[in-house]
Amino acid sequence: MTTEHVKKAKHVKTQAFTDQKPGTSGLRKKVKQFQQPGYLENFVQAVFNTIAPCKGKKLVVGGDGRFYNREAIQVIIRMAVANGFSHILVGQGGILSTPAASCVIRKNQACGGIILSASHNPGGPDEDFGIKFNGENGGPAPEKLTDAIFQQTLSMEQYLSIDADDIELDQLATLQIEQCQIDIIDPVSDYADLMESMFDFSAMKSLLAKGDFRLCFDAMHAVNGPYAKEILEKRLGAPAGAVINGVPLTDFGGGHPDPNLVHAHELVDLVYGEDGFDFGAASDGDGDRNMVLGKAFYINPCDSLAILTANANLIPAYAKGIAGVARSMPTSRAVDRVAEALNIPCFETPTGWKFFGNLLDAGKITLCGEESFGTGSDHIREKDGLWAVLFWLNLIAVKKQPVSEIVRNHWMQYGRDYFTRHDYEAVDSANAHEMINQLKAKIATLSGQEFAGVKVTSADDFQYIDPVDNSKTTAQGVRIYLENGGRIVFRLSGTGTQGATLRVYLDCYQKDPALLEQETQQALGELIQVAESVAGIKQFTGRTKPDVIT
Ligand code: G6P
Ligand code: ZN
Repeated sequence: MTTEHVKKAKHVKTQAFTDQKPGTSGLRKKVKQFQQPGYLENFVQAVFNTIAPCKGKKLVVGGDGRFYNREAIQVIIRMAVANGFSHILVGQGGILSTPAASCVIRKNQACGGIILSASHNPGGPDEDFGIKFNGENGGPAPEKLTDAIFQQTLSMEQYLSIDADDIELDQLATLQIEQCQIDIIDPVSDYADLMESMFDFSAMKSLLAKGDFRLCFDAMHAVNGPYAKEILEKRLGAPAGAVINGVPLTDFGGGHPDPNLVHAHELVDLVYGEDGFDFGAASDGDGDRNMVLGKAFYINPCDSLAILTANANLIPAYAKGIAGVARSMPTSRAVDRVAEALNIPCFETPTGWKFFGNLLDAGKITLCGEESFGTGSDHIREKDGLWAVLFWLNLIAVKKQPVSEIVRNHWMQYGRDYFTRHDYEAVDSANAHEMINQLKAKIATLSGQEFAGVKVTSADDFQYIDPVDNSKTTAQGVRIYLENGGRIVFRLSGTGTQGATLRVYLDCYQKDPALLEQETQQALGELIQVAESVAGIKQFTGRTKPDVIT
């Protein structure tokens, strides 16, 4: 840590915190924790120390607009100047969606970016905040880097900053502080241009111009409002008002900015109501997740990945073909069937978008996705909510079929992988760990045993060896395969901020054409009983049913 090249830089004494280990997606804590003196600063300095030297480098900074976003950005700018960066790009108003940040890092060849978000977690003074570092490829830092950042936080004694007034974030401008040029950039245009270069905007415009196709995008008062308005309403001609809850608010209007059937209820009412809309979509706090709905029709994210893969050749950006696909381990195996038919590789990675980075950089995959409403491609290195929405709109425009027909045809061709995830939130952490530990302790003995009348064929604790850099990641979830073709996965969430969140993932394949239209919980009823019987969920969590079912 040297200040010789920054005249006004000052060393500020600080005390290390022991709880700054990044989780599945960066460091997430309650706002109050981030407001402790030195808490944010220590983490930022740890990032800068890890990527040092910062001298002469370019950094991107922005966030999802949640409470504490603006304050954090001012702190980061002062520290970045003091650490020697020569150029900082900041989204106007402090706004950059996660996919837009990835796009801006790549387009401007920055050394990386700091993204402020707690994704789909609620915002506000008593809610969540988060920070993560993305590298020069625009993707979340790999574990090697996040581990190094964590090590730095443990011995942090001082950080660098300068004495300077807050800068004006709301006007597009170029400023100079010491050696550093600071550009306040339009957060939307680079991203919108990228989308326009990938999809058939004229086909989508015609679809929307016909007037008999009604669409609604619920931005959930989160970051994607301005992006959706620019792309859907301005560039594609959707009627004004097609984007609802389009103004980012620091507390997301008191809502939970997670695009699922429970939290995006305003949208759900519109597509499921009498005379429902033909198409509905929503994204999360930082704009990287997506949920896509047809008229009274829900698309499971696992199916979405499979269907986008099967139809990628219809999209200009992928017309030349796709190299391969990847899904996170708990995601259903629907996409595997498509990959097999297309004769392309399919990779199974641990939960967390960062695990797709190497595969994308190495050109081994073009599309990837997760059950947690994340889908994306090699156009950036983050999952991308609006991209998925545009992909679907483009498919509808060229296939000239409603969403439900596209999905049903897919099931007829490939069979259906029924999938559900049961979440038990904020459960006692010790009990949740004990449950997983007991499961792990008996993994080797499970094969051949029957639970709730169903025989286990194999079981393991998932581990991943990255095919690009051979790094090994262990303990990524307990997988249990059953004789009836079903699979159950147990893992603890790495993104919660309170207690532990137990996730139980259940999926089962069905290819009988007469059985493709069952209600999901019913189709998976037997597996749900097996999960309880093998793990004792009720006993360990004290809950009789999940808090959230997706
Ligand atoms: C974030 C990550 C995803 C991950 C999801 C759930 O959105 O970017 O990659 O799938 O969190 O993670 P969790 O550890 O809570 O299951
Ligand atoms: Zn997110």
